[in-house]
Amino acid sequence: MPTSRRGPLAALALVALGCVALSGCSPVAGTASTGSAPPAPVSTSASATGSAPSSSAAPASSAAQGITVPSTFPTSGSVPGTSGPGDGTVGAAGIGDPYYPTAGNGGYQIDGYDLNLQYQPDRNALTSTATLTGSVTADQGLTRFDLDLQPNLTVGAVTVDDAPATFDQQDAELVITPASALPAGSPLHVTVSYAGSPGVVGGGTANLGDGGWYRTDSGGAFVAGEPTGASAWFPVNEHPADTATFAVTATVPQGWQVISNGVQKTDGLPAPPAGMTTVRWELDVPVASYLDTIYIDRFTTVDGTLSDGRPVVSAIAPDAPDAATDLARQTPAVIDVLSGFFGPYPMPAAGGIFTGSDTGYALETATRPVYTTGVEDLTTVVHELAHQWYGDDVTVQRWSDICLNECFASYAQWLYGEKVNGEDLDAMWKQQMRGYLNKSAFWSSPLVDMGAGNEFTRVYDKGPIALHALRRQIGDDAFFKIIKDWPARYGGKNASFDDFEAFVNQETGKDNTAFIDAWFRGTTVPAAQYLYPGDLGS
Ligand code: TRP
Ligand code: ZN
Repeated sequence: MPTSRRGPLAALALVALGCVALSGCSPVAGTASTGSAPPAPVSTSASATGSAPSSSAAPASSAAQGITVPSTFPTSGSVPGTSGPGDGTVGAAGIGDPYYPTAGNGGYQIDGYDLNLQYQPDRNALTSTATLTGSVTADQGLTRFDLDLQPNLTVGAVTVDDAPATFDQQDAELVITPASALPAGSPLHVTVSYAGSPGVVGGGTANLGDGGWYRTDSGGAFVAGEPTGASAWFPVNEHPADTATFAVTATVPQGWQVISNGVQKTDGLPAPPAGMTTVRWELDVPVASYLDTIYIDRFTTVDGTLSDGRPVVSAIAPDAPDAATDLARQTPAVIDVLSGFFGPYPMPAAGGIFTGSDTGYALETATRPVYTTGVEDLTTVVHELAHQWYGDDVTVQRWSDICLNECFASYAQWLYGEKVNGEDLDAMWKQQMRGYLNKSAFWSSPLVDMGAGNEFTRVYDKGPIALHALRRQIGDDAFFKIIKDWPARYGGKNASFDDFEAFVNQETGKDNTAFIDAWFRGTTVPAAQYLYPGDLGS
């Protein structure tokens, strides 16, 4: 629930995300919040790139040392269990991401989440049973493992492989001890019944606002948070390295609507209790858990289809800005333009959740981004829809790889402006660079391995500058081939920035490592031989 934290942090997020609108970016600053004057837009036409500024660790359980992670995540070994029954490993309280030591967990991986929840908006009362399916990845099997769940939700019962399990809530870790040890490689089937008053997880969101379960002025609720969001409403292996499908059956009082990710299902729903209504949504492609969302409110919908017939459904809050309906209607056309750059749209459905909330940011929740009042503009729509390829389909391996999401979604705004409005990107690049060149704070924070809490410091403004430089360095043919081939190669998978660097080298048949490092990993202005590729120096 929004609390006193919301003010300053939401304000910070608002300023930082001002950079989603290029002309609204601070040209530089020590932090995103110092608010120096933005550069004048190159183009005066309203467009995605040149529009007006869009305003826009909990204590680990005792097993913390034993890092046992999915095999896709290269980290250290495991610690043999001492307390559990029989042989096996105690799964670690974190998946092994150095920026967020207790995010995710060790010893298993999840393939799918299926929630069956009831929500009473007037009391903010959530009752839910989550069913998780996955498998045991710890080499020696598991005697105990954790899920991530915020402590304001109280667990009443857990089963593992249909047998009751014992459990303990230690801050945001739900520590589960199955009745018998789980063999290595075995399928995992967990149910967790829990209830409580969900809310916002304060301060956990990389200095870019809180995340979690927000209540709306119209009495409803929505979920948005990165990196922390899912654990505010369901038990989860909360790290993008472990992607999963997602489904929710939601029962709410009659008169309320529910929208979530993916496609609405109407067949085979249980009969709701008197006075209630039940809705089900399913997302059948695996995504990171911060991309799972729900919106419960008295909203209206805008329906459509993509050019190939896939469903487009958007929810418009009763108090959404006037622009929301029009943006919902434009969503299929924006996806068409982006498909031209990035290849086939990777999700089974599309749309958006246009809230009336002023939390000050948008989030690329899968198939259906969440927009809030400061960022309901075409620029942000382009940005969040670009994430469906860069972030949602191709998923970061660690949070230090966030440029794979934000640098590309931000550069998509440039590409859109060039394609749709004929904007001169070289002129824009040069103009912005004039403002940045002698600002050391712009250069000192790198786009990769930026350090915990700094993930979002420069990706929105330096990210597109660096990608445009890369484009001029390797040429349009190679660049446009790469941005289309990358989702084809890594879609549905995790990727690291190292993978991207290797991919560029492979696709160009040249070693561009020094150039890429200078722009993306460097902490100073790139050396003279890299600074003005192509005609950017003229
Ligand atoms: N990924 C979001 C975007 O690019 C920005 C973001 C970062 C965010 N952290 C967040 C949004 C936390 C909501 C909550 O648009
Ligand atoms: Zn983004």
